[in-house]
Amino acid sequence: MLEKIKNSAAYISRFLEGEKYTIGIILGTGLGDLGKSIEIVHAIPYAAIPHFPVSTVQGHKGNLLLGRFGGKNVIAMQGRFHFYEGYSMQDVTFPVRVLHQLGIKQLFVSNAAGGVNTSYLVGDLMVITDHINLFPEHPLRGKNMDELGPRFPGMTDAYSPRIRQIADECAARLGIKLQYGVYAGLQGPSFETPAEYNWIRVIGGDAVGMSTVPEIIVARHMNMECFGMSVITNSTASPELIKTDHTEVQDIGNTAQPRMTALFREIINNL
Ligand code: HPA
Repeated sequence: MLEKIKNSAAYISRFLEGEKYTIGIILGTGLGDLGKSIEIVHAIPYAAIPHFPVSTVQGHKGNLLLGRFGGKNVIAMQGRFHFYEGYSMQDVTFPVRVLHQLGIKQLFVSNAAGGVNTSYLVGDLMVITDHINLFPEHPLRGKNMDELGPRFPGMTDAYSPRIRQIADECAARLGIKLQYGVYAGLQGPSFETPAEYNWIRVIGGDAVGMSTVPEIIVARHMNMECFGMSVITNSTASPELIKTDHTEVQDIGNTAQPRMTALFREIINNL
């Protein structure tokens, strides 16, 4: 595994041209176009990177973008790997390992999520303050890679209070309204039943989605500083309101993109 990580990183590092890159971004469903705001220096198709899995879902582009955003060098994943696609947890989180190997210290993650908190509106942006891991498998299960991190990593403050503070100030400056909440991550690919949405609400979830949690766990294992943001793409407040449709999730993601892009740019600019 370590060899594979190093091989992938070695391939990508040739495109860094000696520049330092410390900020990584994972662009979620319907948010991949944030990539258009990056002054791209290199776009590397995942298929070209040794050992990288290849993205399969419609609307998920599979490119690693190297470029400038918010006045900084960034490496952005345009398209991510989901557990529901059939990848192992090691595959899902492999790119995060590679980003770390390349010198990435801060990881920004975005996703589309169902709003479980009844005060959320479709289109809201939610700063992830914490998560609940409901995936059936753990990305750190198995022999620990001691070179990368501890056997039992803590998950307190998994979402950097420092970056959240910066996000607050940036959102206020830009006049962008933010929600703050707990992201419950589960495997999908079916959306939840009304009873399941209710259960997630009861256990303390504010939003629910099918990604992010494995990536953050692995990033925290390696002590990367993490920031996560959900676009609330559908309401789940009552059975009559529950609308779950992949196309709609992507559409709402699209309308939220300018706000998310502006906010991510400002945060990165002020890191
Ligand atoms: N459930 C799970 N994942 C999601 C949802 C949802 O309601 N909306 C967007 N991604």
